[in-house]
Amino acid sequence: MNMGQIVARCRRLVARASGRRGQAGEPLVRPTEPPHYHTMRDGDGHLIWEGAYDLYPLWSAFGIPDDLRGQTVIDVGSASGFFAFECEKRGAGPVIATELASVAERDVKANRQAFPRQQLTATPEKSQSDIRELIAMLGSQVQLRVGNINEPLHDTLGQYDWVIFGSLLTVLRNPILALEHVRALTRGRAVVIASYLPHESRAVLSWVQSDRPFDWWLPSKSLVPDMLRAVGFGRVEEVRDFVLRHRNGDEQHQACWHAFP
Ligand SMILES: C[S@@+](CC[C@H](N)C(=O)[O-])C[C@H]1O[C@@H](n2cnc3c(N)ncnc32)[C@H](O)[C@@H]1O
Repeated sequence: MNMGQIVARCRRLVARASGRRGQAGEPLVRPTEPPHYHTMRDGDGHLIWEGAYDLYPLWSAFGIPDDLRGQTVIDVGSASGFFAFECEKRGAGPVIATELASVAERDVKANRQAFPRQQLTATPEKSQSDIRELIAMLGSQVQLRVGNINEPLHDTLGQYDWVIFGSLLTVLRNPILALEHVRALTRGRAVVIASYLPHESRAVLSWVQSDRPFDWWLPSKSLVPDMLRAVGFGRVEEVRDFVLRHRNGDEQHQACWHAFP
């Protein structure tokens, strides 16, 4: 544990003892609007805040080992930073979390722009502020970088042992271009998590008919390994499929693959 983490841990313990935060599973930080994207817990497992998605019960589906000492990680489109902070807890470093500069950078269907801001799960601006708050609160060394996976991020950020690419494939207008950039960031392996079209055995990419401006495609499960191989990954392994639940009750079928150069 470094000095920043010791100081941050003492602050959390004092806050808990004084009854201001974190009593009996109460969040350490009150929910805000727009809500946090991820539910977050500290290194001791105490709840920091509840988010739209609680990925802790799904951790085993991502195939990320408990010992990441000596491994570098980039978490692309990190939102509240769940993957970045969880990898750091397992000893990874440096750990980079990327977010867009602003919501204006998201890939929006031109005919679907009137989407109420309050219906967004979290804006990039809110996610950046979550990550900064968590870095201070946890005494973390996670580094926040502004970046867009539609651009060749590897030119400025380099290559990593672990590249986490979670829940992004379906919200990008050019998923193959983005996967090419993921491939270029990957020295060790990419962890690709994506929603998929259930009950479809053919390899298809389906256009999403929805009012939501960011939802473009849903691949069938059998297509994703083909897409990964088409951008230059040599070997692709499916880790597991699962159901992702939003706290509003919405559910998505998702799966996680590990892709190796
Ligand atoms: C659906 S959330 C997924 C969050 C997290 N990766 C996970 O798996 O739980 C997508 C995140 O990626 C960010 N994002 C959207 N478009 C992006 C892009 N073109 N490049 C990088 N990040 C993007 C969004 O701001 C948002 O925080």
